[in-house]
Amino acid sequence: MGGLSRQQTLLIGILGILFLLSLVILIVILTVKHFESFNDNNNQNDDSPADSDGVNGTLPNNVRIISRLEWVAQPPVQTPNELTLPVSYVIIWHTATENCSDQAACILHVRTIQTFHIDSRHWWDIAYNFLVGGDGNAYEGRGWTKEGSHTYGYNKNSIGIAFIGTFITVKPPERQLNACKAVIDMGVKQGYIAKDYKLLAAKQLIGTQAPGAVLYEEIKTWPHWSALP
Ligand SMILES: *[C@@H]1O[C@H](CO)[C@@H](O)[C@H](O)[C@H]1NC(C)=O
Ligand SMILES: *[C@@H]1O[C@H](CO)[C@@H](O)[C@H](O)[C@H]1NC(C)=O
Repeated sequence: MGGLSRQQTLLIGILGILFLLSLVILIVILTVKHFESFNDNNNQNDDSPADSDGVNGTLPNNVRIISRLEWVAQPPVQTPNELTLPVSYVIIWHTATENCSDQAACILHVRTIQTFHIDSRHWWDIAYNFLVGGDGNAYEGRGWTKEGSHTYGYNKNSIGIAFIGTFITVKPPERQLNACKAVIDMGVKQGYIAKDYKLLAAKQLIGTQAPGAVLYEEIKTWPHWSALP
């Protein structure tokens, strides 16, 4: 095998540089596209929900469901089972974390919770079907059609909604309560939740303090709350 001539070496060098350049350009284009679509989703209007799988964007009272795409969810480890719809229960949780009052902070919480549920709890995805934030938005968890892993024994027949924060001694702000009510109303209207659903706190069903004593007292005043499952 003879060595390469100078010209061949030069040619290979130039080709290599061209290849690297096109790679860099490609990465830049993809990054710009990603951010453009991210911004589009943030600026969406009511007719164009930015949902990944059928979750509807804007609810009454300007409550929005922030889609998984928008909060940059990681994909589920495995696809959770489909729920049999409509479900009979809505189960209320709190996340037992700090609260949040703007979208950026709430998104950070939702992402951290998903990572914790997948990496430490070894669940396939974030446990809840939805979360609601102190910013007044709802956040898509497993959504309307996938079984959650929030309340052992009830996941197959419920939508689990978690309030971001800890509500043992403080009440969630009105907009966070409204976001939860809006999610439930929408679920009933669209046939995901039975019209005669029962509203329950997680602590009524399994050994937990959730959703915290103060929030529990609050949801006991809501129309569909039930003392027994
Ligand atoms: C979204 O909500 C609107 C208004 O409630 C409804 O007309 C539409 O069918 C919904 N879309 C989906 C995909 O559920
Ligand atoms: C978050 O919690 C703090 C401390 O309890 C409270 O002062 C604040 O009002 C809460 N903010 C929201 C948005 O819930």
